[in-house]
Amino acid sequence: MFRKFDISSISSLIVLIWTIVMFDLAWGQLIRPTYVYEGLIGDIRSYFNNTCIIFLHSSPNSYEMQGLTEDNLHLMHLQKYLSSTLHIRTAFMDFHMFTTQVGQSYNKIKRPLFVLLNTNEDTRNNFANVSTWIMMSYPTWLVFFDNETNLEDFFFNVYVPFDCKFMVAQSSINETGKEIITEVYQIHKDKELRSNQFGVWDAERGLEGPSHGLYQRRNDLFGQNLRVASLQDPPVSLFERNEQNEITGISGFFGEIILLLQEELNCTFTYKEAGSWGMCLPNGTCTGAVGMLKNDEIDFAASEFMMTKQRLDYVSFTTPIFSTKCRAYIKRPESASIIKWDTYIAPFSVNIWRIIVFFIIILSASIVFIQKLFAIASIRLQDNSPSRFTEIIFFITGAFCSQGMDQSTLDPVRMVHLVTYLTAVVILAAYSAALISFLTVKTFVMPFTTMEGLLKEEGFSCGVIGNSAYYTFLQRTTDKVMSQVFDKLIRKETIAKKLPTSYMEGLERVCREDKYAFVTLDNMAALLQQKVNCKLEPLDVITPTTIAMTLQRNSPYRGIINAHILLLKDSGILQRLLETQWSVQLGASTTLWKSVEIGDIMPLLFLMIIASFISYLVYIIERIIYKNCFKRVKIKTNKSQKLKK
Ligand SMILES: *[C@@H]1O[C@H](CO)[C@@H](O)[C@H](O)[C@H]1NC(C)=O
Ligand SMILES: *[C@@H]1O[C@H](CO)[C@@H](O)[C@H](O)[C@H]1NC(C)=O
Ligand SMILES: *[C@@H]1O[C@H](CO)[C@@H](O)[C@H](O)[C@H]1NC(C)=O
Repeated sequence: MFRKFDISSISSLIVLIWTIVMFDLAWGQLIRPTYVYEGLIGDIRSYFNNTCIIFLHSSPNSYEMQGLTEDNLHLMHLQKYLSSTLHIRTAFMDFHMFTTQVGQSYNKIKRPLFVLLNTNEDTRNNFANVSTWIMMSYPTWLVFFDNETNLEDFFFNVYVPFDCKFMVAQSSINETGKEIITEVYQIHKDKELRSNQFGVWDAERGLEGPSHGLYQRRNDLFGQNLRVASLQDPPVSLFERNEQNEITGISGFFGEIILLLQEELNCTFTYKEAGSWGMCLPNGTCTGAVGMLKNDEIDFAASEFMMTKQRLDYVSFTTPIFSTKCRAYIKRPESASIIKWDTYIAPFSVNIWRIIVFFIIILSASIVFIQKLFAIASIRLQDNSPSRFTEIIFFITGAFCSQGMDQSTLDPVRMVHLVTYLTAVVILAAYSAALISFLTVKTFVMPFTTMEGLLKEEGFSCGVIGNSAYYTFLQRTTDKVMSQVFDKLIRKETIAKKLPTSYMEGLERVCREDKYAFVTLDNMAALLQQKVNCKLEPLDVITPTTIAMTLQRNSPYRGIINAHILLLKDSGILQRLLETQWSVQLGASTTLWKSVEIGDIMPLLFLMIIASFISYLVYIIERIIYKNCFKRVKIKTNKSQKLKK
C-alpha cells in the first residue's frame, strides 16, 4: 500500500497514524517535559531547514488499547504544536511500520528530520536494525538521551558515516532545563565514534547552534587512508614510481589537486592505476576507474571525468573542476600548393572594379568634352596634349597605375587631372593593403565543419577513446547526426579494435592519417597541439562538458572534498593550476612570419610573360603590315620635325 511513498501521501499517513498513535504508544515514551521536545525539535528543524519530521518509536504492546493516558496526551500536544503552530509535516511511526511500509522509499521524502524520543532498549535495538539498511546520512537525526545511556553503548554496532548529521540531546547535569547537543560521526566504519558539541538549548534562548558550517567543524580525516586511482595520461596526470615500481604519487594537474586536498583533509593516499576512465555496459558491468569505484576497490578517482547522466548511476562526482567543449578535430588541410588565380583581383569585389572602369571612362570623357568645348569656342589649344578619346583613356588608366600625365594648359582639364590623381591614390592604397593581406594570410578550405559534413565526406573515419564517457555519450545520444556518426564510423573502429586508448594516440593518428577525425576535449587538443606535428582544426562543438573527479556513489567524503575544492576555487588556486598545468605553452606558438610563396606570385609572373608575349606578337604583326610604308612614315615624321624647327 505504501510502496510508493511520497510527500503527498504523508498527509494521509499522518491522519492514519494520528489514530494509531492515540492508542498505540506504551508508557514512558517521553523522557523530557513536552516543552523541551517542542522547542528543541522546532529549533533543530529550523536550523537544518527540514521539510518534515518523522518520530520513530517502538511500541511493544501495540494492539492493547492504552486509552488516553497522560503520555499520549503529551504526544498529541507535541504533534499539534509542530503541525499546527509551526506548520511542519509531522508523522509518528513505529520502527516496524517504517521498515515494512516506507522501506527504501524513505529517500522520496525531502530533507526529513528523524527523531527518537528516548533511548530505551527497544528503541536502541530497532534503531540499530534500521541503521543497517537506511542511508544514514540522508536524514537529519535527533535522539533524546536519558541520563543512564552513554554514547558508546547506544552506537555500538551502528555506523554513523562522516557526512551524517546526527544530533544527540542530553540534559545538562548542572542546569535543569538546559540541553547539551552533541553531534556524532565516524571517519570510517572501523574507526572510533567522534563527537563534537553542536550547541546548547534552553527554553528562553532557544538553540545556540555552531557558528561554523558542517565541514568547517569536521575538517579533519585524522590520517584516514583513501584509495586513489588515476590514469597514466600525461601531461594531465602521470605516476611517480619508486625502484620497486610501486606508485608513490601522482603528478600533473590532478596530482597537484590531490596533494592540496591531502594537506587540507589530513588524510593519506594509496595509489592504484586504472587502465581507462571506464564506462558501464547495459548489464551493469563497469570497466576502468568507474568499475573500480563501483566494486569498492578505490574511494576516489583523480582524473578528468566527463560528468554524464549515465555515470551518475554508478559513481558520484565532485564539484566541477572546469568546463570545456567536446568536439572532433581533424588535420588542417594543405593550402600552399594551390595557385589562386584570382589573388590579384580578389581584393576588390566585382562591383568596385566596375566602378573603377566607370570612373576611368567618365574622367576621360570629361577631358574630351572640355577640350571639345574649348575647340568650339575657337580657343586654340597651345599644347600638344592628346585629344583622342582612346588615347585619353590610356593616360587616365596610366594615372590609376600611378603614372604621370602630360600637363594641360586648360584649368578645367587640370581639375579633372587632380580628381584622377586623388582617386587613384586612395584606390591604390586600399588595393595594396588588401593585396598584402591576401598574399600573406594563409587561407585553407575546411572540407566540412560539422559532424554532418563528416558523415557525408567519403572515406573519413572517426575515433574516440574507447572505454570512456565520450564513447558512451555517442553510443547513447539521441541526436540523429551523432548516433549516425556512431553507427557508421565509430562502431566500425570498435569492431576493428582500432579505438585509441589515450588522447595522444588519437591525435597522433589524426596527423598520420589524412582522413581521420578524433573526438576530444578542447583543453586536451590545445594542450597536446604542441606535441603533435600537424595543425589540428576543430569541427563544430558536439556538446559542452563539465569535468569533475569521481568518488564512490554516496561516498561520505564527497561533502568535505567538495567543500575543499570550492575553497580552492574561491581562493583562485584552482584557476592558477589550470593556467599553469593546462595551457603552459599556449603562448609559445604565436604567430611566426609568413613568407609569400612562389605559388602566390604565379599569376603575376604569368601576366608578365603573357603581356610581353602579346606585345612582341603585336609588334611583329605591325611590322609585317606596315613593312612597305614604314620607311615613308619615318621620312614623313623627319620632315615634319624639320618643318617645326
Ligand atoms: C537553512 O536556510 C537558510 C535560509 O534559506 C540558510 O541560510 C541556511 O544555511 C540553511 N541551513 C542549512 C543547514 O542548510
Ligand atoms: C592529522 O591526523 C593525525 C592522526 O593521523 C592527528 O594526530 C593529527 O592531530 C592530525 N592533524 C591535524 C592538523 O589535525
Ligand atoms: C556483461 O557483459 C560483458 C560483456 O558483454 C561480460 O564480460 C560480463 O561478464 C557481463 N556481466 C554480467 C554481470 O553479466
